[in-house]
Amino acid sequence: MEKIVVSGQQKLSGEVAISGAKNAVLPIIVATLLTEDQCTLYDVPHLADVQTISEVLQSLGAGVNYHGHTMVTDGAGVSKTEAPYEYVQKMRASVLIMGPLLARFGKVNLSMPGGCAIGTRPIDLHLKGLELLGATIHIDEDGVHAESDGRLKGNDIFLRVPSVGATENLMMAASLAEGRTRIENAAEEPEIVDLANMLNAMGADIRGAGTSMIRINGVPCLHGAAHTIIPDRIEAGSYLLAGAITKSRIKVTNCIAEHLRPVLDKIIESGAEVIVNEEAMTVEVIGGEHILPVDIKTMPYPGFPTDMQSQFMAYMCMAEGASHFTETIFENRFMHVDELRKMGANIQIDGKNAFVNGVPALYGADVKATDLRAGAALLIAALAAQGETTIGQLHHLDRGYEDLIGKFRQLGAKIQRVEM
Ligand code: EPZ
Repeated sequence: MEKIVVSGQQKLSGEVAISGAKNAVLPIIVATLLTEDQCTLYDVPHLADVQTISEVLQSLGAGVNYHGHTMVTDGAGVSKTEAPYEYVQKMRASVLIMGPLLARFGKVNLSMPGGCAIGTRPIDLHLKGLELLGATIHIDEDGVHAESDGRLKGNDIFLRVPSVGATENLMMAASLAEGRTRIENAAEEPEIVDLANMLNAMGADIRGAGTSMIRINGVPCLHGAAHTIIPDRIEAGSYLLAGAITKSRIKVTNCIAEHLRPVLDKIIESGAEVIVNEEAMTVEVIGGEHILPVDIKTMPYPGFPTDMQSQFMAYMCMAEGASHFTETIFENRFMHVDELRKMGANIQIDGKNAFVNGVPALYGADVKATDLRAGAALLIAALAAQGETTIGQLHHLDRGYEDLIGKFRQLGAKIQRVEM
């Protein structure tokens, strides 16, 4: 089994380039199913999830050519409307194929995406929205079966929760529906805006992405387009916290600071210095001599992102004081706590609250990644811990961080990936 081995308390320095955003590229690759033309995507990160979604598209008959960081897709050959069980179980984002396949072919079948470590991850909002657009959906032991009698029809949809995935699925389905669709209480994440920009480049008519009201006028068909994926704000935030916790000065390049505003504000509140150069698309962090405790409450964008909660908690384990975390998005996103405790962290959990009492030192230990961002949190803690830490279950990290070892080595970390 492969593990990451980190020798802690090593100062970091230099700069690292941020890759294309996982949570933008996955829906955008799926969106290419909406046309039979070729699409070209730039800044596509080498991630396990990108490999998986590419295999899903190929299993449906689409062509996917991926060289360097450029991906060319070809939707002409799409003939199937059923995603294989193993892919849907491997990656929940496979549920995003429902909108495009229903819109283009009027039919889609897929196994019910399971929950994952961080929560049950229901898809009721996706299904209710697709029904409002005219789909007939039934669920049985084989999964979810949806079909529409003719073209989908635009409608008004109110999302009980500003779900990122449901907003994306419904935006894609409505792009080809007949008439106007309004998605109210839509998710406002930058990845939603990036998907809307790709869809509009393909000939869709979408307005309001990035706000809570998205208006879509359906068009008869979409054509190919070229698009560059936005940088990954969560990857960027993870590296900035690695700099802050080791009291180093590091710079991330190819980063849109505006997408990280709530995270940068909290890093500053913790006593570190942040230098933003919008023009150059760089953000630099200078770790503070004293790490001050700050309280974090995760919220839908533009609030503090749930995907940065575990990484920030690792940082707060070294704060001089107590901090309070409230996780409002997922019901079980504190699995990193047990692993941080193995390193000497002092954390109490009460439901969706976690109380972190900073300790003077963390100690290297043998820990395991329980989900993607928990793995990043453990790596951040390991960089500041005394001694050596080994991190297992790396498949979680491989889903969302391109060239993790290479990038951390570039910053001077003593880190290696070994077979154990
Ligand atoms: C996306 O997941 C991201 N994944 C997640 O990133 C991210 O944490 C999440 O959005 C929130 O920002 C991708 O984009 C691939 P949601 P998604 O639908 O779309 C509830 C990472 O680490 N809900 O916004 O699945 C749900 O249970 C991953 O990169 C329903 O109740 O998230 C959750 O409590 C983790 N019914 C809340 O909404 C539904 O039909 C937010 O979920 C859908 C969601």
